[in-house]
Amino acid sequence: MEFLNAPTISLVILSLAICSSTSATNSMYYSHGPNKGAYWPSWSIDFPPSAIDTTLFSHAYYAFLSPNNVTFKFDVDYPTALSLKNFTTTLHKKKPSIKTLLSIGGAAEGPILFSHMASSYDSRKNFILSTIEVARKFDFDGVDLDWEFPQTPIDMVNFRHLLHEWRVAVKKEAKSTCRPQLLLSAATYYKPEITLDNVYRKYPVKSINKNLDWINAMCYDYHGSWDLTTTGAQAALYDPNSNVSTSYGLHSWIKAKIQREKLVMGLPLYGRTWQLKDPSLYGIGAPAVDVGPGIQGQLGYADVEKFNIQNNAKVVFDLSTVSVYSVAGNTWIGYDDARSVKIKVEYAKTLKIGGYFFWAVDADHEWKISRQASKTWVI
Ligand SMILES: *[C@@H]1O[C@H](CO)[C@@H](O)[C@H](O)[C@H]1NC(C)=O
Ligand SMILES: *[C@@H]1O[C@H](CO)[C@@H](O)[C@H](O)[C@H]1NC(C)=O
Ligand SMILES: *[C@@H]1O[C@H](CO)[C@@H](O)[C@H](O)[C@H]1NC(C)=O
Repeated sequence: MEFLNAPTISLVILSLAICSSTSATNSMYYSHGPNKGAYWPSWSIDFPPSAIDTTLFSHAYYAFLSPNNVTFKFDVDYPTALSLKNFTTTLHKKKPSIKTLLSIGGAAEGPILFSHMASSYDSRKNFILSTIEVARKFDFDGVDLDWEFPQTPIDMVNFRHLLHEWRVAVKKEAKSTCRPQLLLSAATYYKPEITLDNVYRKYPVKSINKNLDWINAMCYDYHGSWDLTTTGAQAALYDPNSNVSTSYGLHSWIKAKIQREKLVMGLPLYGRTWQLKDPSLYGIGAPAVDVGPGIQGQLGYADVEKFNIQNNAKVVFDLSTVSVYSVAGNTWIGYDDARSVKIKVEYAKTLKIGGYFFWAVDADHEWKISRQASKTWVI
């Protein structure tokens, strides 16, 4: 028996030796330090990839690309091809160790396309093969799925199938090309259980652990223009009155048994604005009547700082939520600054999770927040 088995064993060893660098990088956290991510909005014309301070980040995401809604393959036109290539070339040149990921979908795409894509084996296969082809063609290190959000329990089952088949395909491609496996990540809701529109569904945590390198939990957008009646801390670390908070979200993921190093905490580089009903009532949860400045009441951090200076705003650090708000007349802005982000990053570090990421890299003011985050978590 031993004699018969011998050739098989040596063949296995040989093929392992040939593709020695293709093993999954599941020990990312321990070997490379925390995951420090930054999403780059490809539509931000005055902020090219060359403007990103790559010393502050380990991962950069190109936001966003969507597949064709019938074939579920990517139709990349010429300007988009140039933009994709420019992103990876520029960043890898500035910092060879940075990992670039092609991010697919996003809030503007919504959930429907992905629900259709994930619903059958054939459409998942077309999508998966196209993501690999595009990622390789434009020299990305990985692919990130921003399906916001699976809407039903069936969507979650299909999401699980997708993750499994994606990892199988990525492994196979790596083996046949002798290249490192593409990284696979997904942006998710801030907690593993979603009850929106009265439909309960839960992320497939086991499959996430097995098939994804990490998830980016979107720990923001807790309050916003969809509720104009009261002001709110859109990315509260704690909320004394509810479970809508980053601490609750992260603990829920851990309780649902996600591997800690695969959990990455979202941080917003933008604030959300309201118009107060009565300027003398200006706390968190104060009565409001409309959105304030910004697009749908959303204002980048640099613009918040500018607003505060120009309007001589009153700035309040709220310890109970670990957030900041500013008030000028009847304008109210809730946001994060370097101090709140420092506390959040220390919190993430204490939880021993994988790291943090920012939405979005173009909105910082002289790298104040990104730099504070990075120097708070050094190993
Ligand atoms: C696909 O997208 C096109 C263009 O945006 C739209 O007109 C069409 O209704 C969409 N089809 C499906 C099946 O969603
Ligand atoms: C990327 O595009 C910018 C212009 O937006 C250009 O100056 C730069 O040379 C390009 N870089 C690469 C590597 O193609
Ligand atoms: C928060 O969640 C816990 C369990 O996860 C639950 O027992 C509690 O009732 C929730 N609190 C609120 C205010 O919803």
